[in-house]
Parts: sequence; structure tokens; C-alpha cells
Amino acid sequence: MRRNIVAGNWKMNNNLLQTEALLQELKMQVIPENVTVMVAPAYTNLYHAFESVRGQAIEVVAQNMHQSKNGAYTGEVSAEMLKSVGIDTVILGHSERRAYFNDTNAVLAEKVNTALENDMQAIFCFGEELEDRKQGEQFEVVKAQLEQGLLHLNEEQFKNIILAYEPVWAIGTGETASPEQAQDIHAYVRKLIASAYSDTVAENVSILYGGSVKPGNAKEIFANPDVDGGLIGGAALNANDFMAIVNAF
Ligand code: 13P
Repeated sequence: MRRNIVAGNWKMNNNLLQTEALLQELKMQVIPENVTVMVAPAYTNLYHAFESVRGQAIEVVAQNMHQSKNGAYTGEVSAEMLKSVGIDTVILGHSERRAYFNDTNAVLAEKVNTALENDMQAIFCFGEELEDRKQGEQFEVVKAQLEQGLLHLNEEQFKNIILAYEPVWAIGTGETASPEQAQDIHAYVRKLIASAYSDTVAENVSILYGGSVKPGNAKEIFANPDVDGGLIGGAALNANDFMAIVNAF
């Protein structure tokens, strides 16, 4: 079912005390019923965060995981480990993971499979770099990322996917894609999903936008028919800003 979703990707920010402090602030807020709210703290704070928001309308999700079941992968965390601390959703393919940690499309296809085998949902991120957009190749780049990392799933599996379009040039730069640029890609992606699966699947998938979403621009971005919410970086670290975005629908 297509949902409005606002997810805060905290990236490598907030130690345990800061995590709890931010969660306390969020817990005091009223979460509107038409929005699913998620936060993604660092691995070390996931279990605490999960316990802290238990019973509240805030879902704690992970920022990444390894594709293997278990084994000699020093420093990595498995799906089963995430599940064991209450985590049912994982962000996969964030551009920072793609750029700095070798999350290729092929690796991401494996990670997606592992998430689904463990009954998890995945927030699958994709998006072009500035150079791609300058060359007018944003649609091809996005298509390749989806085809190579995600569209091998069957229709039933795909129901566990949330999409997140994050143009790399708009992440942490203060430069937001215009509402039209976001809508153009989102509509294109929804068509791609319709041709890979069906109109019903395409209608039901949530497609989030990420990249310098702030309280001041969230409303006009979310107003687009194919934008179903946001994946928020910097502004998610401040409870008031994050809640203003949550309330922007
Ligand atoms: P900013 O909101 O800081 O641009 O980050 C977006 C992002 O990468 C969310 O995953």
C-alpha cells in the first residue's frame, strides 16, 4: 500500500546519549496519522532506539547491512543481527555507501535479496551524479541502477520495497532538486515499475525524495503526485526541523 513516509537518515551522527535525547524530543510530538515516520540511527544505538520508541508511531530502521548470512566479515552486521534487535527495515544503496564502500549494483542486488529472505523491508536508494545530469543522462543512470540492483525481484517480493530518489548533487549541498525535477524522475520511475511489474504495483510503491529537504521546501516537494515523502539527512538531526517536514503533507 502506498504510504507517505518521512525517514530520518542520521548517518554517522549522534552517540548513545544524543540518540536518546533526540528520540525524547521526537516522542513528545504528535505524529500525524497519514505519515509513517522512521529514523535510522547508527548501528551501536539501534537496540536502544528500538526499546526507547517501543509502542510509539516511530519505526527504527538501519542504514545498511551486509549481504552474507554470517561469517568472516570483520566490522559488518547481518540481517539476522538487525532482526534480533527489532529492526525490520534497512536502507540500501545510499549514495554514500555506493561512493565510499563499494556498494555496487551487483552487491546491492544481493543485499536486497538478503533483506527479503529475512522478512525485512528495504528502502532502496538511487540517483544520478551532477555529471550525469549535466549530460542529460539522469534517466538512463536511474534506470540502470534499478534494473541492476532491484528489478530482478518478483512482484510479490517487490511489495517490500520503498524507493528513495536521491540525486547525489543535492545531498548535503543545500542544493535541492526543483519540485519539477523530482516529479519528473519519480513519474519516470513509477512508469518503469509499471512496465516491469504492473500498474497496481507501481501505484502502490512509495517513492521518497532525498537531498537537502528542509522545513522550507518540504511542502512543495511533497505536493507532487509521485513524491510520497522524504529521506532526510541534515534536517533530521533537529527534532523541530524533522517534525516540520513530517507535518508538511
Ligand atoms: P541531506 O538532507 O543532508 O541533503 O541528506 C540527504 C540524504 O542523504 C538522506 O539519506
